[in-house]
Amino acid sequence: MQERGNWSSKFGFIMAAVGSAVGLGNVWRFPYYTGTHGGAAFVFVYLIAVIVLGIPLLMTEIAIGRASNRNPVGAFKTLSPDTRWYLVGILGVLTGIFILSYYSVIAGWVFGYIFITTSNKFAMADEQMISQVFQSVSASPFIPVVLLFVIIALTVYIISKGVQNGIERYTKILMPVLFFLLIILAIRSLTLPNAIKGVEFYMKPDFSKIDAKVIVAALGQAFFSLSLGMGAILTYGSYLSKKDNVFSCSVWIALADTMVALIAGFVIFPALFSVEGLSPAEGPALIFKVLPVVISKMPGGILFGTLLFILLTIAAITSTISLLEVGTSYLVDEYGFERKKATYLLGGVSFILGIFSALSCGAVGFLSKLPVVNMDFLSLMDIIFGNVSLILGSLFIAVFVGYKWGIEKIILEIESDGNKFRFRGIYGLLIRYIVPLLILLVFVNFIYETFIR
Ligand code: PFF
Repeated sequence: MQERGNWSSKFGFIMAAVGSAVGLGNVWRFPYYTGTHGGAAFVFVYLIAVIVLGIPLLMTEIAIGRASNRNPVGAFKTLSPDTRWYLVGILGVLTGIFILSYYSVIAGWVFGYIFITTSNKFAMADEQMISQVFQSVSASPFIPVVLLFVIIALTVYIISKGVQNGIERYTKILMPVLFFLLIILAIRSLTLPNAIKGVEFYMKPDFSKIDAKVIVAALGQAFFSLSLGMGAILTYGSYLSKKDNVFSCSVWIALADTMVALIAGFVIFPALFSVEGLSPAEGPALIFKVLPVVISKMPGGILFGTLLFILLTIAAITSTISLLEVGTSYLVDEYGFERKKATYLLGGVSFILGIFSALSCGAVGFLSKLPVVNMDFLSLMDIIFGNVSLILGSLFIAVFVGYKWGIEKIILEIESDGNKFRFRGIYGLLIRYIVPLLILLVFVNFIYETFIR
């Protein structure tokens, strides 16, 4: 087995985990899901999901990773030898590769938008031109594939260099910059005409809109955004020192991630309602149609816009790194793969899978509107792997800790920094009962509503 890395400090770990959590999930997916799932009602359920399920599950994954000091598959093998629990880890590895495949397509679009913005295309653009630009990028038969390749190649390059200098260095400085830039854009967006309508849509919940679909989407979004349910945080936790406090790390990760998502919403929705002809239910294209509006209407728009897409690309790459790291650590730990070879192999597989998503936004008719499910391939991947698989993964992880490995053992791990964990009672209750029950209930209801009724 190769030597495993370690974070240089607790701050380094938090920044890397925040790097994994903060990404397209916050700026692309959160507004898009909010827009298609009823606005503020969705946001409301989402926030509850982050607090009630997100934080305990973050702690759980970190503690499992640290206790076993292994990748997700090895972790279950170590903590529960001679059982089938390691399959949860395998599910995580597969989920990571599939998410990476379509996530990198969106990241590719974002990367492409850097050049479109610098070329001053958005300066005087109206909505129609903005839509055309998006169309010409996303529906081209080769631009998205090239962009996809660039993103995966960058990810592979960074990750093949190893844990510490690979992941940690990039995140520390750039995440705070992204945060402030989003605040500046939100201020511009909020001062556009009609902005108040957007704020209402985003912040004034209509509770009658909450149904099983909204709850499943919000749960899925919470897990996706916090990188939960597929062992990414578990893998990062395996590099965390015993001296660090698991609870405070988890709260920081959840807080930072949620703040970025909420602010992204304040950039998108006010601007959205300030232009005619755009609807919140725009789908995956939403931010690519709204951000240029904000950019075109602010002084220094080219500069801010370019910076935004650069930082978003970086935020996306700190997430793709964690998606690929799960499978990489698995191949390195379990099969003695050389790190570089493992990343090339998995990156290659993700690229090939990703081509289908890259061509599903207009380039290939069949992929753009699949029969039976009636949606494009990319969105289908996102539902299966970005929602269902992460929700199931989180359910299995909670059940594993609650009923197999044991709450006492995980508390011992959580307390290994020498501090008593004050919320151990609540934590046990949540992991053993509330989290599994909530997930099961919502899930069964969702399956019933979608397929049976
Ligand atoms: N959390 C990332 C985002 O919000 O963009 C996406 C992601 C990364 C999901 C890693 C899952 C994961 F394991």
